[in-house]
Amino acid sequence: MSTATAIQPEKYNRVAISLHWIIAALMIYMLTLGEELMEVREGETLSLYGPTLHASLGILVLLLSAVRIAWRIINPAPPLPPMAAWQVKATAAIHGMLYLLTLVIPLLGLLAMAPYGLERLDADKVSFFWLFPVNLFPNLGEWTAELHEITGNLAKILIILHVLAALKHQFIDRDNLIRRMTFR
Ligand code: HEM
Repeated sequence: MSTATAIQPEKYNRVAISLHWIIAALMIYMLTLGEELMEVREGETLSLYGPTLHASLGILVLLLSAVRIAWRIINPAPPLPPMAAWQVKATAAIHGMLYLLTLVIPLLGLLAMAPYGLERLDADKVSFFWLFPVNLFPNLGEWTAELHEITGNLAKILIILHVLAALKHQFIDRDNLIRRMTFR
């Protein structure tokens, strides 16, 4: 057995770790396969399963992210391992933008419901897990849907950068940073 001791960085708490991975899974699903759930063409008769699942998971991201941000404000992050000042700034900027986007993207999705309903479906039939309708806002125009898509694309780029940074820490810097976000 090796006597070398692996670096054991200070960790996020279990609530922060759970919320990180639940929201990460939901975001990655919504930004890849989940997008297509809304692809319903004008005049098509269909079950509202796809749009309802898309809206429901999006609202779930919004609610969980609000809890996560509140939790993060009350529980500051553990101190980072030594790294260049620009890396600390870049990390803070990317994390901050990811937090913001987990709120802004679903909010824009809610705003985009009314114009979506006019073009394709009766938006009032789209619900939060079949419990209550989510067409809450008046039609503010197509820009809401466009911004929903643009912010989604921005999140894809930031998530790729975020994952590349985690991989760099793991395999190039070898500072075991990823252990800060795992239970073991
Ligand atoms: C396979 C995918 C992912 C990996 C490997 C990963 C890894 C990590 C790691 C290691 C940290 C801790 C960084 C540190 O020590 O300060 C972290 C933090 C964070 N991650 Fe991820 N992540 C992934 C996906 C995502 C996704 C999809 C999001 C989008 C919401 C996300 C948002 C965040 C945020 C906002 C933080 C900052 C936590 C804080 O300081 O409060 N991550 N991630």
